Amino acid sequence: MIDINEIRNDFPILSRKVNGHQLVYLDNAATTHKPRSVINALVDFYENHNSNVHRGVHTLSMEATDQFEEAREKISSFINSETSQSIIWTRNASESLNIISYSWGYKNISEGDEILLSPMEHHSNLIPWQELARVKGAKIKYLSLNDDGTLDLSNIDELMTSNTKLVSIVHVSNALGTINPVKELCEKAHQVGALFVLDGAQSIPHMLVDVQEIDCDFFVFSGHKMMGPTGIGVLYGKMEVLEKMDPVFTGGEMVLEVSYEKASWADIPMRFEAGTPNIADSIALGTAVDYLQNIGMDNIHNYEKTITSYGLEKFKELESEGVTLFGPKSSELKGAVFSFHIPGIHPHDLGTILDGMGIAVRTGHHCAMPLIRSLGVSATARASFYVYNTLNEVDLLIDGIKSTIRYFTDGSN
Ligand SMILES: Cc1ncc(COP(=O)(O)O)c(C=O)c1O
Repeated sequence: MIDINEIRNDFPILSRKVNGHQLVYLDNAATTHKPRSVINALVDFYENHNSNVHRGVHTLSMEATDQFEEAREKISSFINSETSQSIIWTRNASESLNIISYSWGYKNISEGDEILLSPMEHHSNLIPWQELARVKGAKIKYLSLNDDGTLDLSNIDELMTSNTKLVSIVHVSNALGTINPVKELCEKAHQVGALFVLDGAQSIPHMLVDVQEIDCDFFVFSGHKMMGPTGIGVLYGKMEVLEKMDPVFTGGEMVLEVSYEKASWADIPMRFEAGTPNIADSIALGTAVDYLQNIGMDNIHNYEKTITSYGLEKFKELESEGVTLFGPKSSELKGAVFSFHIPGIHPHDLGTILDGMGIAVRTGHHCAMPLIRSLGVSATARASFYVYNTLNEVDLLIDGIKSTIRYFTDGSN
């Protein structure tokens, strides 16, 4: 059992008011808030240990290096990677995916090769592959979607063939909340000799992810969506794959030997971390992992399932108003993400009115433009929950939507 009030007390921002109302923050798929321990870790680093890493023999530099590498260890054990060498610090999930594309992709993808994606990919797991395919003359194929927003795997054997060199799939969709059967997809990818990239930006904050159990070749995520700071992300890669990859960025810190003519590369992961890394934010991401593990990822996932089930029930009250809720209708198949459309009310108008009530939701295409268009709308409103949200906040959202519909229908609210 987790005590949500106790958790909420750890997040200073949750006590603030917005437009005269208690903040109801339902934009967690975009970014999450930070507990005091994460904020304090940043302050502590800059106040007490600030120094560059891997460079100095002086005390501050050694302390910074120890904390920085300890954070890498924490990430490694959090996702159960074989070794912390497999953990490469990046700025965010987007950068991690670009590194895979520019390094592994440019070396291994050739004309006629195929890359398989799902139709629900975030632009960050779409455009790097589009660019790679354009330059290399490769082809991108897409899995199909069922009406409920789950993946249709009935034609997977036609789509995944010996031409498929890479399969890159989102674990949990930021636009629909769909939880994808990634272990099965990874197994299929390996059967045809393809590598499997898993976009964990929306899964790792909410559930236990074990990269060895899934057997993915790459796993990417962003710190800021899991209570950590912005500007820090992770690229996990299997060592045997990373070892065959060249660095995308070169410069300081990532070299072994340098002459006026050439350079040789440092060991992994430093090979992929040119220049001074984001030291403070990596350390604070380690603190975020401590915080999440202290609550327990299974507790988080189970609590959020309760929110999802409750939200799905409450959204039924809006069906008579013509409100369409996109994505699966079961908490087994979907995270606590509610993407919806109200006929006659633009999501931006809804978002603005809800903001007046202190309720923060996201409106737009959620960086999944092709998917949103395929739903027959140009934008949706999206409420996305985290472990610090309450069932009462689901009620406030539903009341806010009802009142907005009344306002647009007869001017009352
Ligand atoms: C599923 C998914 N993948 C990738 C990203 C990209 O994350 P970032 O903007 O932190 O690089 C996001 C961000 O919303 C996302 O939801």
